[in-house]
Amino acid sequence: MAQYIMKGGRPLNGEVNVSGAKNAALGILAAAVMTDENVLIENLPDVRDINVMLDAIRELGATIDRIDRNTVRINASTVSGVDVHSENMRRIRASYYLIGALLGKYKRANVPLPGGCAIGARPIDQHLKGFRALGAECVVDGDKLSASAERLTGSHIYLDIVSVGATINIMMAAALAEGRTILENAAKEPHIVDVANFLNSMGASIRGAGTDVIRITGVPKLHGTEYSIIPDQIEAGTFMFASAITRGDIMVRNLIPKHMEAISAKLLEMGCIIWEFDDAIRVVGAQRLRPTNVKTLPYPGFPTDMQPQASTAMSLAKGTSVVVESIFENRFRYLDELARMGGISKVEGSTATITGVEKLKGAQIKACDLRAGAALVMAGLAAEGYTVLSDIEYIQRGYEHFEQKLRNLGAQIALVNSDEEIREFMRNTAD
Ligand code: EPZ
Repeated sequence: MAQYIMKGGRPLNGEVNVSGAKNAALGILAAAVMTDENVLIENLPDVRDINVMLDAIRELGATIDRIDRNTVRINASTVSGVDVHSENMRRIRASYYLIGALLGKYKRANVPLPGGCAIGARPIDQHLKGFRALGAECVVDGDKLSASAERLTGSHIYLDIVSVGATINIMMAAALAEGRTILENAAKEPHIVDVANFLNSMGASIRGAGTDVIRITGVPKLHGTEYSIIPDQIEAGTFMFASAITRGDIMVRNLIPKHMEAISAKLLEMGCIIWEFDDAIRVVGAQRLRPTNVKTLPYPGFPTDMQPQASTAMSLAKGTSVVVESIFENRFRYLDELARMGGISKVEGSTATITGVEKLKGAQIKACDLRAGAALVMAGLAAEGYTVLSDIEYIQRGYEHFEQKLRNLGAQIALVNSDEEIREFMRNTAD
């Protein structure tokens, strides 16, 4: 299996361009099925999850024209069924966005239930609550979900928990329902706004995305569109924290500063210097980071998807930090891997106490989910000596050209497939 090998100790310096937002693109690709006209989508991140979602849409019968790695034209007029294959759901949870899209357009959808994953149980009860409120019958039989409706009628829906997925899924189904839907306690992430803007560019009538009350007036049909995905807030934040963790100086280009406010604020608290430009942020890491505290919250709070990167920075701070993970119930497993590098932390329920150390030491470690994997790469690039990271397919799901972007910043990192390649990397990077 492929692994990353890193030689740590070099600050990351230079410029990096942020790719399109994975979590916006997944909803937008599903929504593209809701019209029979051509949809052109640009600035797609070329990552595994996107390619799997395109496979799932292709298997429904849609025509997919991959113009280049970051641009695709979709025409769903040839969709011949509403059964999403279990293989695709097993490979990517976000296939469940096809429920909202297919239910909205065809009033039927048969989709395997997504299981839990490394970070938590991740039920979809709020998605089902929304579909049922719109008039759909949702039957769970084993691991299959069948949703169907004679007609979908707008409704007043209050989410019991702020859910990105449920907000996007219900927004799609309601876009083609009859009448008005009010969705309260909606998630406000940038990718929600991007999916709403995409649907509106197809003729939908969605107002209030980005606030906690979204108003959707159903329309009879959606038309084709051309759309470019927003920059990825979490990829941008990951590279901003990479500068802090490696005491570097990185200009992160092609981002929306407004989306980065909670992340910039934490980096300032930890002693980094931040310059903000129209579509870029420069982060200069401190010689020794100050400790701080973080509680992950729905947007605009500190993102849960940035929690492992922040905790890795705290593991090198001069003092003790406290992290409260309020979104997912099992998102601290990577701290065991950091401990193998000399990190010191204690987890009690949803709270981790992190005692900063002067240096981390290279070790054999493994990625346990997408964002933890990226954080452990940063740890390896800051540590003394060599680090070998396995299970990196998690990282390849959501970060485009990750090792290339890091090498362009001066990182000594390579993707290796054998002990011989590891030895060769060590020979080539020996002092
Ligand atoms: C999205 O997951 C993202 N994934 C996640 O990013 C991100 O961590 C999460 O939002 C929070 O921002 C995609 O967009 C593809 P939620 P999602 O529904 O939609 C509970 C990454 O690294 N919940 O907002 O699944 C749930 O268990 C990934 O890119 C219910 O209880 O997250 C969780 O505790 C990881 N019932 C909380 O709500 C439901 O019906 C927030 O989940 C739905 C969710």
